Formats: sequence, C-alpha cells, structure tokens
Amino acid sequence: MRLTRALSGALIVVTLASCSPSGASDQQVARSGTAGAAGIGDADFPNDGNGGYDVGHYTLALAYDPATRQLAGTATIDAKATENLSSFNLDLHGFTVGSVTIGGQPAAFTRSGDEMTVTANLPKGATFRAAVTYQGEPQPVRDSPNLGTYGFVPTSDGSFVTSEPNGAKTWFPGNDHPADKATYEFRLTVPDGVTAIANGELAGEPTSKGGKTTFVWRETHPMVSYLATMTTGKFLVKTGDSEGGIPVYAAVDPRYQSQLNRLFEISGRITDYWTTVFGPYPFKSTGGIVDDFASGYALENQTKPIYGGFEPDEGIISHELAHQWFGDSVSISRWKDLWLNEGFATYAEWLWSEHQGQATAQQIFDRHYSNANDPMWNYPPGVAQKSDLFNNAVYYRGAMALHALRVTVGDDAFFTIIRRWAADHRYGNATTEQFTALAEEVSGQKLGELFGQWLFDKGRPNALP
Ligand code: ARG
Ligand code: ZN
Repeated sequence: MRLTRALSGALIVVTLASCSPSGASDQQVARSGTAGAAGIGDADFPNDGNGGYDVGHYTLALAYDPATRQLAGTATIDAKATENLSSFNLDLHGFTVGSVTIGGQPAAFTRSGDEMTVTANLPKGATFRAAVTYQGEPQPVRDSPNLGTYGFVPTSDGSFVTSEPNGAKTWFPGNDHPADKATYEFRLTVPDGVTAIANGELAGEPTSKGGKTTFVWRETHPMVSYLATMTTGKFLVKTGDSEGGIPVYAAVDPRYQSQLNRLFEISGRITDYWTTVFGPYPFKSTGGIVDDFASGYALENQTKPIYGGFEPDEGIISHELAHQWFGDSVSISRWKDLWLNEGFATYAEWLWSEHQGQATAQQIFDRHYSNANDPMWNYPPGVAQKSDLFNNAVYYRGAMALHALRVTVGDDAFFTIIRRWAADHRYGNATTEQFTALAEEVSGQKLGELFGQWLFDKGRPNALP
C-alpha cells in the first residue's frame, strides 16, 4: 500500500473491458503490457512478494474446520497496477484454486510452485479487484532451518498462525513481502464454540447460523503480510481498556486459564508505558494470545502478539509490544534490515528491565560485551543473513548498537531519534540507511564509525567510553 493513497477512499474497480475500450486497443494493451515480476525485488528472497502492483486492501472470507483441517473461502485483493501489466503473480502455497476473477470477470491463471500467475491487461495506475476462491488443508512451512514451523499451523482445536518471514502464502494468496503493506478485513467462519481471532478489532458481535459462527475483524491500519493471523480454537477472552484508555483484547487457551488476567493487565500496562517512551500507540487496540501450540517462540502479530505454548514473562511481553512501533507500524522493506525490528524490540526489553528497577540497559550491555568469544561478534547485525535471519546477533548485537548510540549522543538526542523514527515512518517502511541518517541529523554528529563497528563490521567493537 502506498501511503499517499486515501485509506478510506472508495476503490474504482476496473474490469478487463474497461481497461481497453475497443478490440484494437485490447491488442495494444496486451502488447505493451509486461509480465509482473515473480518477486518484489528483495535480493535475498527473490521469489517473495511480486512486482508490478501494490495491494491496498485484503478481504479474507475464510471458513476453517479444525476437525477436517479444511480451509476454504475467497481472498479479495484490491490493488493498483504500478506498471503496464499483461499478467501478475500472487504467492500461494498449496490449496486447490477454484476460480480467479478480475473486476468480476473470470481470469486465466497458472500455478508453478508457490507462484500463481494471473492473466490480466492492466494499464499502469489502474486499480483492480482480484478475487481468488480456494480450498484445501493448509501446509505450514515445516522445520525450516532456524525458523521451525510457521505459517498456518493446525492445532488440536484450531489453528496457530504466525507467518514471519514468508508464511502468509500458506493461508491466503497475496503479495507476501513486508514491502507491500495493506489494510485487512477478516470474515472468519468456524464451528460454534470455536473462537476466531484476527488482527485489529471485531466489527460487531459474532453471528451464528447452522452450527457455524462468523467473526468479522478489521485491521484499519496498514499491515505487513507476515503479521496477519487467524488464530482459532477454544479460548478464554478478556477485554477492556488499559489505564491509559487503549482497548485490550487478551485470549488464552483453557490450559493457560491462570494467565488470562495477568496477560490482560500486563499487556495494557506495558503498552501504556511504551507510549511515554516511543510516542503515541499506532493502532486502535492492543493485547495478546497464549495458545497451547509449542512453537518455541512468540510473534508480534499486529495488535495481538501471540505466545506459543508458554507463560510469557514481562520481558517477552515488553518485546512483542515494542514491535508494535518497530516492525509493525515502522516496517522493513528488505529482510537484511531485520535488526530494525529485533534490535529495537530487544533494546526495549532492557529499557523495561531498567524501568522496573532491575538490571539497567548498561548492565545488560556490559554482560554481553564481556564475552569476547560470543559468536555474535562474527555476525554483523546490520546485514541479516538469509540463511540465519533470526541469529542472536540481530537481537542482542542490534540492541547493543542502539545502546552504543545512546551513550554516544546522550539520552535527550537518543530518545528524540527513537520517537522521530516511530513518527516519521509511522505505517510505512524504512531502511537502515534512513535510520543512520536520522541519528546523524538529530545528534549533529558523524556516526559512520560507530554504526560501522556495531552494525556492519565483523569483530567485537571497541569498548564504550
Ligand atoms: N519476530 C519474532 C520475535 O522475535 C520471531 C519470529 C521467528 N520466526 C520463526 N519462523 N521462527 O518476536
Ligand atoms: Zn522480536
């Protein structure tokens, strides 16, 4: 999604016919259009996302039955052509596709691996609506090195959906790369008694008919594809407002019943605190989900971080909620910049510890620095490696880079930089170069040497003064 586009503006839906008023120009459009690229242009992940268009909004009308593990429905994609197109791609892993329409007219498509190619003559600048009807048993990405199992993971009572980095394609067709953010509506149908949880807020009370309940959720702020979720199953839910007035939605699998009040209270309290450090909360609600699927990690799903099969402590809750600013509102546009998410969220854990009167950020920094043999000294976090994206260096050395910046420029300039970062790129995408430029601008200092040592060079950087 481009930010210049009105978020609430009505979409003009073009049909194939309206793109080309006569048969003759039909031919011309066909000749002048090119096939949209199979990838969005991330050198490390050449097939992720797609070229030639920009999604504004997804409407995912999906039914899931935990007993049969069948997911079925229609994904409607409102997008804009950014080139003259004769075809474009969608990312989709598995499933049987029944039909594709563009502007309501049937469109031809082919599939190869996780790429689906849709034939459509779309002039540059045209807005269009693609609808894909599909069904099947979701196949999550399993045991990927360093990433475990991710995407749409069936559980005993529903689904655990965490898609970072590229698992959105395991449950809906789209432009599966963080460079293309979009708003979402989820219309999720599950058997009565099952709760379906997505991002954003409920559009009303769930409605039940013929033994099935439909939950409508809307995420009205732009979101990257890997943060979209449809977590389903038996859940205990608690809602209300934080002390600061932010709506909170907390849900736990019955196995974690004892955690519900705690999750609700801590998530609200930490979200409130982060608004005093990072600036206004970017979304309309906050919260968290504890499911009984032991993923071994948590994910900062927009408005609803999810914790996979463990009781989250304040440290990890502070991490996932800091991601709402860093990663979710301000998003990366290429995976090598991942420290902008993980380094920031890890540094937030240190700030929370300090705020709680526990170890200070300086003490935590010193503890990491003192280990001269830590393997992270061989992994410069400013360039996350595709084969080992979530290496500890991206988290801890990334956080240390921020602490080194703080000590170098002083607290006033440092927290101004952090708040400006959240404000300047709110709901958008940004790069490491933009961050280092902002740090130099705000501090008035040349910081090339500092960032070089902490982000880009191998070896343990010089000790802080
Ligand atoms: N962003 C998550 C966190 O640090 C980690 C996600 C890891 N992804 C994965 N497929 N294991 O909070
Ligand atoms: Zn994280």
